[in-house]
Amino acid sequence: MLRAGLFVIMLWGAPASAQSVEMGAKVFARCAICHEIGLGAGSRQGPQLNELLGRRAGDLPDFNYSAALREAGQNGLVWTAETLAEFIARPRHFEPGSRMIFRGLRNPAEVEDVVAYLASLQTPDQIAMRTGKALVETYCGACHATGLEDLGPHTAAPAFRDLHRRYDVADLAEALVEGLSSGHPEMPEFEFEPDQAEAIIAYLKSLE
Ligand code: HEC
Ligand code: HEC
Repeated sequence: MLRAGLFVIMLWGAPASAQSVEMGAKVFARCAICHEIGLGAGSRQGPQLNELLGRRAGDLPDFNYSAALREAGQNGLVWTAETLAEFIARPRHFEPGSRMIFRGLRNPAEVEDVVAYLASLQTPDQIAMRTGKALVETYCGACHATGLEDLGPHTAAPAFRDLHRRYDVADLAEALVEGLSSGHPEMPEFEFEPDQAEAIIAYLKSLE
């Protein structure tokens, strides 16, 4: 049985205070030496950080990541409030082999504030949808078509954009948490955290 996700994901914690977001924007000045964010942001010394929450680690095609970060993403590392906080506090410890030359923010309040700032740039719906997309690309894309137009690698696996023709995809929520399996021997059984399941449903609905 495959345990989905290397990390327990907390997608939607208590909403951050406006003060925390404001402090976080100031802390971000230290990141901005290497990272751009916002309209027209591009990758410089570090990758651009737009729509970061819900993004798979090491996923931008135009940035030359370390093999360590790219592989972590392929193995299921998705940026959430929690994984980001761990990474920012101790980049090397969290992801040995990372090329981010930054010793990390040692003050937990600064970490919390900068994560609050980054999260404030996306709505909870956008975060959920992006997380769902990252999860299905990671765990399901080996067999199913997961986008609007792609052809699935496995002819017997239905394209996710067609699932809603057969049933309400919201009905999958319980199965995703308690163990999703199909009659097909090749499909591994999955168990997701409840908020991961919610994110997957949000993404599947966006395909309808
Ligand atoms: C000295 C330059 C530098 C500074 C300062 C820096 N970073 Fe980075 N960052 C990088 C590089 C380079 C990478 C790519 C690492 C790799 O490929 O292993 C990276 C990667 C990241 C990633 C992963 C992005 C992805 O696409 O997976 C995040 C998130 C991130 N940095 C956030 C931050 C935050 C937040 C700060 C400030 C607290 C910060 N960084 C400070 C250079 C920097
Ligand atoms: C190794 C290949 C493989 C992987 C990985 C895989 N599937 Fe499947 N899946 C299949 C195949 C093949 C079928 C068709 C089964 C059938 O027709 O009985 C299927 C069927 C399904 C169905 C339809 C079941 C039904 O009865 O209508 C759903 C929903 C589904 N998969 C969801 C997922 C999700 C969500 C993931 C990722 C978390 C995933 N699958 C990963 C191969 C895979």
